[in-house]
Amino acid sequence: MFPERFSNLPAYAFPRLRALLDHHQPGGDVVHMTIGEPKHAFPAWVTDVISEHSYGFNKYPPNDGAPELLEAISGWLGRRYGVDFQPDRLMTLNGTREGLYNAAMALCPETKNGEKPVVLTPNPFYQVYAVAAIAAGAEPVFVNAVKENGFLPNYSALDEDVLKRTAIAYICSPANPQGAVASRAYWQTLLGLAEKYDFRVFADECYSEIYRSTPPVGALEVAVEMGIDPERVLVFHSLSKRSNLPGLRSGFVAGGPECMRRIRQLRAYSGAPLPLPLQMAAAKVWADETHVEENRRLYAEKFAIADEVLGDVSGYSSPEGGFFLWLPVEDGEAAALKLWQETGVRVLPGAYLSRDTDTGNPGKNYIRVALVAPKTEVRSALLTLRDCLYG
Ligand SMILES: Cc1ncc(COP(=O)(O)O)c(C=O)c1O
Repeated sequence: MFPERFSNLPAYAFPRLRALLDHHQPGGDVVHMTIGEPKHAFPAWVTDVISEHSYGFNKYPPNDGAPELLEAISGWLGRRYGVDFQPDRLMTLNGTREGLYNAAMALCPETKNGEKPVVLTPNPFYQVYAVAAIAAGAEPVFVNAVKENGFLPNYSALDEDVLKRTAIAYICSPANPQGAVASRAYWQTLLGLAEKYDFRVFADECYSEIYRSTPPVGALEVAVEMGIDPERVLVFHSLSKRSNLPGLRSGFVAGGPECMRRIRQLRAYSGAPLPLPLQMAAAKVWADETHVEENRRLYAEKFAIADEVLGDVSGYSSPEGGFFLWLPVEDGEAAALKLWQETGVRVLPGAYLSRDTDTGNPGKNYIRVALVAPKTEVRSALLTLRDCLYG
């Protein structure tokens, strides 16, 4: 006896990639450009803070977050977005992935306007959005985010009967995989739509600090400027990309007090809070920007290399944020396999991050390339990739 609702889930992107590539020999030295795992150094003092607070491993960590961590997050939100979010409007997370999932469990209603609720997700997308929708008993609706709409989903164009059933709209800015950044006008339109049709916006902003020139506008600041219902929008942030600490598992969600109360209550039953020494380290990391500036500089160098190497490839566009290239190819799977067999460079077929829809699969003709390796390796891998796929 097993649940039916997860039976149609496709295999996760990385097992699919292994099945595609691993029974073929690489054509050269292996270069990993598949997984979005940051590789730049995190601040060296992080380990000192953890050992200073190691006595905390002897304690159950506070479920709602240590006061020091909540204060540091509140301070960061104030400096970054000019908003005043006190701890009652914050909840610490073990990275954004579980938060993006658990917020849907806490907040998705059983019905919307008398019908099965809809959860909107961009397509392609970070895979937890769809599984959260299914687990919460909602119908995921995949909205293609393609070049013609700036690689961000146009939720306003959906049929009214879908919008009336919508309970939650996920949105990622800067977007994984395309690196598109939602403008102030985009947020205003989306938040206005959410007000009109009474749904919540879950803004996944975990790449917010990895940008080329201008800091991306955040959903919270726009919501505050618009004076909309504070329960309308939740933002999710993480130290994984900002501070190269994916293994620390520290993130947070910020939103309206009632949403936070419900998330906190559910987590009191089922959450697994971050160990106290790690919470104390996270507090210090949120309070420091020096390492973040350096991190951004290192990515900017690699994107400059990408522009130089791939700038004349037809359809190439330099992403505004994040650390991926989303490169047009004839067929993403065929391109990833050819690249692996001929050169040893390992990239992800775009379709492994997207779903088939009535208007096609928006990832089918793309590959995703993560610029996480050191810059000399990135340069030679991109030159190899250009010669192999666009030569
Ligand atoms: C778009 C997006 N959201 C969320 C996450 C989850 O990150 P974490 O749980 O490490 O904060 C990732 C990780 O790759 C991501 O790409």
